[in-house]
Amino acid sequence: MRPDPPQRVLPPLSQAGGAGASLDVESRASLRSFNTFGLPAFAQTLVHIRSAADVKRVVDHPSYGRAGKFILGGGSNVVLTRDVNAIVLKIEIMGRRVVEERPEAWIVEAGAGENWQDFVAWTLEQGCPGLENLALIPGTVGAAPVQNIGAYGVELQDRFEALDSIDLVTGRQVTLDAPSCHFGYRDSVFKRHLAGKSVITHVRFRLPRPWAPVLGYLELERKVAESGITRPDARTIFDWVCTIRRAKLPDPQAIGNAGSFFKNPVVSAEQCRDIIGRDPEIVHYPLPDGSVKLAAGWLIDACGWKGKTVGRAGVYEKQALVLVNRGGAHGSEVVTLARAIQESVYGRFGIRLEPEPVIV
Ligand code: EPU
Repeated sequence: MRPDPPQRVLPPLSQAGGAGASLDVESRASLRSFNTFGLPAFAQTLVHIRSAADVKRVVDHPSYGRAGKFILGGGSNVVLTRDVNAIVLKIEIMGRRVVEERPEAWIVEAGAGENWQDFVAWTLEQGCPGLENLALIPGTVGAAPVQNIGAYGVELQDRFEALDSIDLVTGRQVTLDAPSCHFGYRDSVFKRHLAGKSVITHVRFRLPRPWAPVLGYLELERKVAESGITRPDARTIFDWVCTIRRAKLPDPQAIGNAGSFFKNPVVSAEQCRDIIGRDPEIVHYPLPDGSVKLAAGWLIDACGWKGKTVGRAGVYEKQALVLVNRGGAHGSEVVTLARAIQESVYGRFGIRLEPEPVIV
């Protein structure tokens, strides 16, 4: 008879993962500095999530396991109007690496808690270009796929390989590819049926080789013309995008905001003709399927909102698409302002603007 093989004793889950044995939990934690609008709200329970193992610990926890969860990344896409009773999972999973250099693409990965802008800059330093058009978008790497961030002719889904997530019911790790994420314009499965049910832990990006610049966006074309640089490298495009954004979008460190507050509405060609008949100036972009995207910023501006203040919330002076905290605003004041804008745009154009951030 052969002797029994030595027993492999698995450590209890609370010790697995190497990130410390227990969860880092705060009670009645202020969320003011964790949302870019700077809105006041408290979390009854806030758990700092520093690893995939921490997520599993939450799932297995006797009282947190079954409670509702609220997943907080950089807080750049949320309007907090009240305290949060659900368990707030503050995602702080760090780490970034070049996973693979394939002939047709670089594959790079980052932890969901990494700051987006730092990650984009790091990819360029590693000699892996492709994310430069998405420079300076506020928020974290993990939040980027949730709303399929996009700017200056590139959307996250154009550079996406896969992501790892943990199911908050089963505690299982699930890897999702692009089709499983159901990306749409500022939309994904994480804003829909996986909202609050799944935690993104790592995201992998596919950056095509050879690199080719994306310069089709009007403001970048202007930079090419002004600078005379007809073949800019990725770093130059990164710098241009940062300059363009800084000129018209407020820095959340200085003025609380959540970027574009409304999505650009899409209307049928017929509706658009009707609106153009009345407002020939309207900024619009025909889409491949025959529908037309209208510039929400233009619609709001046309209704006279730019620079206006209601309570302690306001419309940014340089970009009507951005709502700002003028100082000490409550989330309800932001929502009141947003509703007033929606009503006036509906009254004049018959178009319902849809907010981009999640309103809690
Ligand atoms: N416009 C006005 N008045 C304004 C603002 C805009 O007339 O106050 C006009 C502009 O002149 C321009 C048009 O409206 O002709 C579009 O404006 P802009 O380019 O500033 O904004 P956008 O193209 O609609 C989108 C994204 C931004 C992204 C930029 C660049 C949405 C809702 N917004 O803005 O994303 O950075 O394109 O690609 O899709 C974000 O989502 O937080 C965000 C900042």
